[in-house]
Amino acid sequence: MPILTNPLDLIFHNLFFDVQGIAGRGQLLLKLEGYNVTGSIKIKPALFMINELERRGVLEPCRSTVIESSSGNLGIALALVCALRGYAFICISDPNISPTNRRSIEAYGGKVVIVEHKDPQGGYLASRIEHIRGLLAENPDYVWLNQYANPANLQAHADWTALEILNEVPKVTHLYVGSGTTGTLMGLTRRFAELSPETRIIAVEPEGSVTFDETRAGRRLIPGIGTSRRPELADPAGLDRIVYVPEVDTIRMCHKLARRHGLLLGGSTGSVLAAVAADAESFDAGSTIVAVSPDLGDKYLETIFSPDWVKASYGVNPAVLSDSTPVAPCEPLGSIIARHSPPKPGRLRSAPPPAVRREAVRERVHEEGA
Ligand SMILES: Cc1ncc(COP(=O)(O)O)c(C=O)c1O
Repeated sequence: MPILTNPLDLIFHNLFFDVQGIAGRGQLLLKLEGYNVTGSIKIKPALFMINELERRGVLEPCRSTVIESSSGNLGIALALVCALRGYAFICISDPNISPTNRRSIEAYGGKVVIVEHKDPQGGYLASRIEHIRGLLAENPDYVWLNQYANPANLQAHADWTALEILNEVPKVTHLYVGSGTTGTLMGLTRRFAELSPETRIIAVEPEGSVTFDETRAGRRLIPGIGTSRRPELADPAGLDRIVYVPEVDTIRMCHKLARRHGLLLGGSTGSVLAAVAADAESFDAGSTIVAVSPDLGDKYLETIFSPDWVKASYGVNPAVLSDSTPVAPCEPLGSIIARHSPPKPGRLRSAPPPAVRREAVRERVHEEGA
C-alpha cells in the first residue's frame, strides 16, 4: 500500500466487485466509483473541466471564481478541486439539497447559494440557470462550467473511465451506464466505439426522465440520474438500447444490495443493476457485463434507505424490502487479516486474532449487567 500525499491519488482505477446472482449466467463486474475522494465518479469530470479552463488560460488562482449548478456530487468534487487549485467556488442549488451535501461543499471551502423561487415548469433548474446568468453578467471573474453542455465532462470518461475498464476487463460484452448529464454514458460510448466496438452499450434511465424522449416526463425523486430537460451532450447514436427503470425497482435493488451483498450503494447504482437484473435471462455463460456504480449509499440514508420515506414516497411496505439471505462468503477473521497484511520478510507478522471464548463474553455481559 503506497503512502499518499495528494488527495487526488484517492481515485481508484481498478476497483471492481464481482456481484453474484444478479446477471444470470453472465459475470457482472460493478465498477465502484464511490470510494473515490469526495465520494463519487464526479471527481473526474470536475478535474477535466477545471483543467480545460486552465489550459485555455481562463482561470487565475486567487482571482477567479468557479460557479456551477449542482445539488450533489459535482458540487462536492468541484469544491475540493477549487480548494486545491486556489479558486473560489460558488455552488448554485435549491431547497432540495441534502444537509450532508451542503455541509460537504462548505467543508471544502465552497459557498452554497440556495435559489428559492421555482421556475414556470415547477422545478428549480431554469431558476438556477437564470441566477447564474445574472451573476455572470455582474462579475467578470466568475466562470460557469455548465456540466450539461461541457465537452470536458464527456472527455473525462472517454480518456479516463473507459480506459480503466478496458485495461482491467479483457472482453466486455455488455456495458450498463446510468445517465444524468450523460457525460459518463457519452464518454464511454465514444471510447468503446473505437476500442471495443462489439460491446453492447445499454443506457439506463429512470422512468420520468426526458433525456432521450420528451414524452416520458414524470415524477422522479431519486437524484443523480434522469433529467427534466434534454442535456446538450446527449446523443442516442451509438447506444444499443435505452432501458427505463421504475424508481420502486431501484429502491428494491438498493435494499437487496445492502442486505444480501453487503454493498451500500446509491440510487443510480440501484437503477443500473435493476436494469441488469431485468435482462438476466438473456446473458449466456461467456457474457461479461460491466456496470458503473457512481456513488455509495451513505448519502441516501434519509431517503432510499429510510423505510418511512419509501412508504410515503412510493406506498411500498418496507417489510417487502427485508430479504436478508446473505450471499457474501463466510471467511475466518484470521484469513481476512492475513490477506490484507501478508507477512514480509524481516517484518512483524500481523497479530493473530484473539480467540474469544463464548463463555468469557457471556460472563462479561453478565458482570456489566449486574
Ligand atoms: C449519483 C450519480 N449517478 C449517476 C451519475 C452519472 O451522471 P452523468 O450522466 O452526469 O455522467 C452521476 C454523476 O456522475 C452521479 O453522481
